[in-house]
Formats: sequence, structure tokens, C-alpha cells
Amino acid sequence: MCDCCSSKKDIYLPELATVKKRKLMNGTELYLLIQLDSGEELGHKPGQFVEVSIAGIGECPISISSSPTQKGGFELVVRNAGSVTKAIHKLKVGDKVGIRGPFGEGYHIDQLKNRNLICICGGLGLAPQRSLINYILDNPSDFGTLTVLLGTKCYPQRFFREELAKWAEGDDMTFKETVDEEHDCWTGNVGVVTTLIPKVESHLKDSAVLVCGPPVMYKFVLMALEEYDIPHDDIYVNLERRMKCGVGKCGHCQINGEYVCQSGPVYRYSEIGAMPEAI
Ligand SMILES: Cc1cc2nc3c(=O)[nH]c(=O)nc-3n(C[C@H](O)[C@H](O)[C@H](O)COP(=O)(O)OP(=O)(O)OC[C@H]3O[C@@H](n4cnc5c(N)ncnc54)[C@H](O)[C@@H]3O)c2cc1C
Ligand code: FES
Repeated sequence: MCDCCSSKKDIYLPELATVKKRKLMNGTELYLLIQLDSGEELGHKPGQFVEVSIAGIGECPISISSSPTQKGGFELVVRNAGSVTKAIHKLKVGDKVGIRGPFGEGYHIDQLKNRNLICICGGLGLAPQRSLINYILDNPSDFGTLTVLLGTKCYPQRFFREELAKWAEGDDMTFKETVDEEHDCWTGNVGVVTTLIPKVESHLKDSAVLVCGPPVMYKFVLMALEEYDIPHDDIYVNLERRMKCGVGKCGHCQINGEYVCQSGPVYRYSEIGAMPEAI
């Protein structure tokens, strides 16, 4: 039990966890299945993140990519970006990591229930949205229709390929994918993710739209959505901010008094659209 609040966990103390599976999915993205050594499930909600620490190196926030409906550990997708993520990429099966969290509010599932949903993901934005997508697929009676649009920079960069193929073949969602650049092995759509939006025009009315991707993508997706008069209350965005503590103490993630690590990283566009530097 934590000393300073009623939480079962100490928010400052990493829990020991073990790498159960690892797979390099492309040149830069590593998949990890991690299990807490306590044997307990992480108990997360879609859209939340954990702070992953490597002894002697440091700690960094990583989104949880698996749905809470999946038991037996949780999944992460880690891009090799710097010192901590490079150390994470060197982990082998059986190695130990420290885990704090889950943190953030994640997706407010109650706001999404019974709605038709459109997930627009770009690149690594697939990792947090996959948690929500698989949660919806496992609880279909709680939601309306599901449409997923995915854009990836280039064909070799695509990850979770087998899962994407199942999404494309199944009849429980509409899945459309594109890559920015042509490639000999790719026969699908070519162009940025916004080129997929007109293809699902009829789905946009009365839907909630959830957008997650690199910062540059938001501007263009939000501009494209303006054409369809979707209320800003019905557009959700994931804000990724530099984070340190992950628990509202250090101020690193703050925008206009909003602590993204605590109340985010998912916000309604109506809540943050007017905040300078939010998008
Ligand atoms: C809520 C949240 C969820 C995240 N989820 C994931 C995830 O699922 N998978 C994943 O691979 N990464 C994710 N990230 C980004 C990840 O935390 C950073 O890549 C990581 O902190 C870099 O740490 P490092 O020590 O490896 O790199 P550093 O040595 O600290 O930095 C390497 C480079 O990355 C830049 N950088 C560091 N942190 C960030 C950041 N937050 N945003 C943009 N650029 C940054 C630095 O400026 C530098 O250029 C997430 C970040 C946040 C805030
Ligand atoms: S990361 Fe420390 S306050 Fe949000």
C-alpha cells in the first residue's frame, strides 16, 4: 500500500517484471510481452501507459499495446529512440525490467460506449490504439461499428502484420490501410492516412473519431475532418508530451496547467484545441 494515497501500489516504486517474449517487428520497433513478477495482471485501461525502467540506465513512458481483456501479461511496442529505449531493445527473454503504472486516464470507455467509432492511426500510434481496438473487438455488444484507418511511412515499417491481415479479412470491422511510398511488395493504397478518410465518408456521420500518431499527422487529420463538420467533442486525440515522473509531480508534461501524465494522454479535441502548443 502506498504511504501517500489509498492506491494499492506505490506510484514511485518500480515493480519487478520479466520479459516473456520479444520480437523485432521491423528495423526500429520491438514487441515485448511482459509479466509482473507478482503474478498479478497490470489492471490497465486502453490508452494508459507504464514507466519502464532499466537498472543503471533510466526510465521512459511506453503505451500499453495489449487490451486489458488479454490475460497473462501485457504488451509494449518500443521504438529505438535513445538511451533507455536502446537498452530496452537489448533485453532478452527472461531479463528483468522495472514497471510503474499503469498511469494516465487513457480512453474514457464510458464516453465511447454505444458509439460508432473510427480510429485513425499513424505509425507508432497503432501501439496505444491497438489496446482499444482489441478491447472493442472483445466487447462488441458495448459499441457500434468500428472503422480503423492506418497509415505507415513505408511498407517495411509496417508492424503487427499478421494481426492487420486478420483485421482486413474479418467482418467485425472496416479496416483500411495505406503506406506513404510505393513499394514492390505493396499492392494496397499509397498516400498519407488522410487519403483514406474520403473512402469511409459514410461512416463519419454520428461517429466518434479517435486520432493517434506523430505530431505532424494531427494537423492534417484535423484539417481533413473539418470538412465533415464533426463536432470537436466527438474527436479524441492522444497527446504525447515529454514525461519524467508520470504521476503529476515533476511538471515536465504540463500544458496550460494540464498534467498530461495524469488527465491524458487522451483528450477531446474540444478540451485542448484552443490550448497553445497542445497540437
Ligand atoms: C505517454 C507516452 C507514451 C509513449 N508510448 C510509446 C510507445 O508505446 N512506444 C515508444 O517507442 N515510445 C513511446 N513513447 C515515447 C518514448 O517515451 C520516448 O521515445 C522515450 O522516452 C525516449 O527515451 P530514450 O531515453 O530512449 O531517449 P532519449 O535519449 O531521452 O531521447 C532520444 C530522442 O528522442 C526524443 N524524445 C525523448 N522523449 C520524447 C517524447 N516523449 N516525444 C518525442 N520525442 C522524444 C529526444 O528529444 C531525443 O531526440 C511514449 C511517450 C509518452 C509520453
Ligand atoms: S510527467 Fe511529471 S508531472 Fe507529468
